[in-house]
Amino acid sequence: MWCLTLFLSLLLIINDVSSQWNVWVPRDISAMTNTCVVIQCTFMYPSGVRPYRGVHGIWYYGNPYPQLFPPVVFKTRTDVVHESYKGRTRMLGDLQQKNCTLLINNVGPEHSGRYYFRADLGGANVYTFPDFADLKVLEQPNIDVPDEIVSDESLTLTCYAPDNCPDMNPEIQWMYTDYLPDPEFSSDYIEEGNTAVQSSTLVFTPRPVHNGQLLGCRVYYPNTTLVYERLVSLDIKYAPRSVWVNVSSEVMEGSSVTLHCEVDSNPPARISWKFGDQELLWDTASNLSLTLDDVTPAEEGVYTCIGDNGYGAMNTSLYLAVKYPPREPIVNDSLTVQAGSSLTLHCSTQGSPPPTLTWLKDGELVGTITADELSVLELEDITPQGDGQYRCLAENEHGRASSSLNITVEYAPILLDESKCTVVREGVQCVCIASGNPEPTIEFYLPDLNITINETEGRYNFYTHTDGQTSTGMIKLREKGERASNGGPAVNVHCSISNMYGRDSVLLELQQEKKYLMAVIVGTIGGVAVIAFIIAAVRYVGQNNKKENGIPRQDVVLENPALYYSAVKKDKQNLRKKVVRHDDDSHDDAKEKTGISNLQALWQALRGES
Ligand SMILES: *[C@@H]1O[C@H](CO)[C@@H](O)[C@H](O)[C@H]1NC(C)=O
Ligand SMILES: *[C@@H]1O[C@H](CO)[C@@H](O)[C@H](O)[C@H]1NC(C)=O
Ligand SMILES: *[C@@H]1O[C@H](CO)[C@@H](O)[C@H](O)[C@H]1NC(C)=O
Ligand SMILES: *[C@@H]1O[C@H](CO)[C@@H](O)[C@H](O)[C@H]1NC(C)=O
Ligand SMILES: *[C@@H]1O[C@H](CO)[C@@H](O)[C@H](O)[C@H]1NC(C)=O
Ligand SMILES: *[C@@H]1O[C@H](CO)[C@@H](O)[C@H](O)[C@H]1NC(C)=O
Ligand SMILES: *[C@@H]1O[C@H](CO)[C@@H](O)[C@H](O)[C@H]1NC(C)=O
Ligand SMILES: *[C@@H]1O[C@H](CO)[C@@H](O)[C@H](O)[C@H]1NC(C)=O
Ligand SMILES: *[C@@H]1O[C@H](CO)[C@@H](O)[C@H](O)[C@H]1NC(C)=O
Repeated sequence: MWCLTLFLSLLLIINDVSSQWNVWVPRDISAMTNTCVVIQCTFMYPSGVRPYRGVHGIWYYGNPYPQLFPPVVFKTRTDVVHESYKGRTRMLGDLQQKNCTLLINNVGPEHSGRYYFRADLGGANVYTFPDFADLKVLEQPNIDVPDEIVSDESLTLTCYAPDNCPDMNPEIQWMYTDYLPDPEFSSDYIEEGNTAVQSSTLVFTPRPVHNGQLLGCRVYYPNTTLVYERLVSLDIKYAPRSVWVNVSSEVMEGSSVTLHCEVDSNPPARISWKFGDQELLWDTASNLSLTLDDVTPAEEGVYTCIGDNGYGAMNTSLYLAVKYPPREPIVNDSLTVQAGSSLTLHCSTQGSPPPTLTWLKDGELVGTITADELSVLELEDITPQGDGQYRCLAENEHGRASSSLNITVEYAPILLDESKCTVVREGVQCVCIASGNPEPTIEFYLPDLNITINETEGRYNFYTHTDGQTSTGMIKLREKGERASNGGPAVNVHCSISNMYGRDSVLLELQQEKKYLMAVIVGTIGGVAVIAFIIAAVRYVGQNNKKENGIPRQDVVLENPALYYSAVKKDKQNLRKKVVRHDDDSHDDAKEKTGISNLQALWQALRGES
């Protein structure tokens, strides 16, 4: 029983709903400016209500309450409407048939808003429906653009035009599509909730080159002058498609250099400069400059610019070469060697471009010029002449640098030709000159007297002098004291030269020398001494004859100042290999002068002493 009651009451409710005050209007509706719009509308009123003198209605704009005096869009009882709707509105529906469809002609943006219908069935049966139609009056068509457009991915764009004006149907065209690759167009008509929309869809695959380009949709109404356009600028995201950097370049050490990087991407990439694994700089931009100040050779290398914007990454590298003048070469330390040994000298440096290396000995080129980082100079069987300063010179187009070392060659003493004995007024003067390194020690030995004369032997007038690698020793033998113990003349003088590498002993024998005689005559006596020359020449010949017979005699020695001792030895040839050749006067001016000046110094010293 109660079940039936429930059913009846449900039926009553349903019946009630269908016979309530109700209106059906499109919730949203749109129209292009200057066209018209038809708002489809139907309504219901309770079945119990009997319209009194027909059904009337009012369309309001903005709000539904008459007491707030909303603008009247249309009213069936009078012609009085709001000014902005004058002559524009018409009721298309038959209110008696509960059809409240409204036409608004020539709409403008000011007509956008909510439209409410109020039914007036006479007497107290006046009802404003709370449901409304929201009208949008458009000045441009709408284009659906995806939030994110990615290069190389298919893109769909749709342009919409409202189609709610019965006599005017829009046409849609796409604009600026000539440059698009294989665009596809399709149109559609969508009717929904008593409103209609025309649409045109464009499908294509955008490329980075299309970023920022304009596309347009044009809506027009045939046989009218009405045209509406909307332009969109395409924002096409794409991974970096080019990373431009400077070409590889050279820069001088100490200067500054700016490396540019430009990345073509959308959106702007995170650009970074890397040197090896080290990130030097980064920024989110379209370009990034890396400035290196006071560049050092350590900064030479590959620089990479990387652009990464989330859609992809790309990089480009360049090589920066740092030029610099040669560094001071590294050479061996100065060293002392024994004659005859062999040496290898190394010289190394850095520079860019790689410098050439040259070895110079005392300013003159030795060895070969090399372009390696290392130059090796081989000195084999080094002679005393190898002694000197060795300089390694490094040069490139940006400068030069050098380092040197000194090589000291040590060798056994060598007797020089200046060694001789001369007869002087007081007796016999013997000079012994030897070169060697370390400097030789000089001793005289008089075999006839069995005495050795050296620096520690103070009884004799002995003088030594050393000048670098040349030692000079001198003794003066007075006639009386130095006679042989057997009463004979002390004519034999040995000169003994020694250093740590050797010792030698040479007999300085009294000897007459023509050349010396001539020099004395021409140099000191000159033309006046022609007679003396003749006398001397005669004596010379005589002396020579005597010499052939044996050891010259003491009395002759004393009487003849033109005679002097000079070195004689069995292995004379070997011993007297000279540091410089003596035969050719022009060659050894220097050595000769040294010898002479040594002698002069000695003479002066001796004179001062005695
Ligand atoms: C209401 O009237 C309009 C205009 O005459 C018509 O197009 C529409 O079909 C009618 N609606 C209904 C539901 O009958
Ligand atoms: C436009 O006008 C021409 C003649 O005036 C007519 O033939 C044509 O059908 C009209 N087009 C539309 C869409 O009304
Ligand atoms: C790198 O290119 C920029 C712009 O072209 C230029 O100003 C700059 O000097 C260049 N740098 C080098 C090292 O070449
Ligand atoms: C480099 O980027 C800046 C902004 O980050 C911009 O103003 C400038 O025009 C760009 N330069 C080049 C050559 O693109
Ligand atoms: C540069 O790009 C290449 C591929 O194009 C990649 O192999 C390399 O790792 C990248 N270098 C850096 C430093 O990102
Ligand atoms: C010079 O130096 C190089 C490298 O340091 C070395 O090999 C060579 O033996 C040195 N030469 C001498 C003579 O010391
Ligand atoms: C080499 O000797 C010269 C002169 O004897 C001297 O001036 C120079 O300093 C020396 N060089 C080295 C590296 O010892
Ligand atoms: C020379 O003198 C030394 C002592 O000074 C002596 O031992 C030696 O026998 C002497 N020689 C001769 C040949 O007289
Ligand atoms: C000098 O000669 C004496 C005797 O021969 C010797 O004992 C002494 O060591 C020598 N002195 C030098 C400096 O050679």
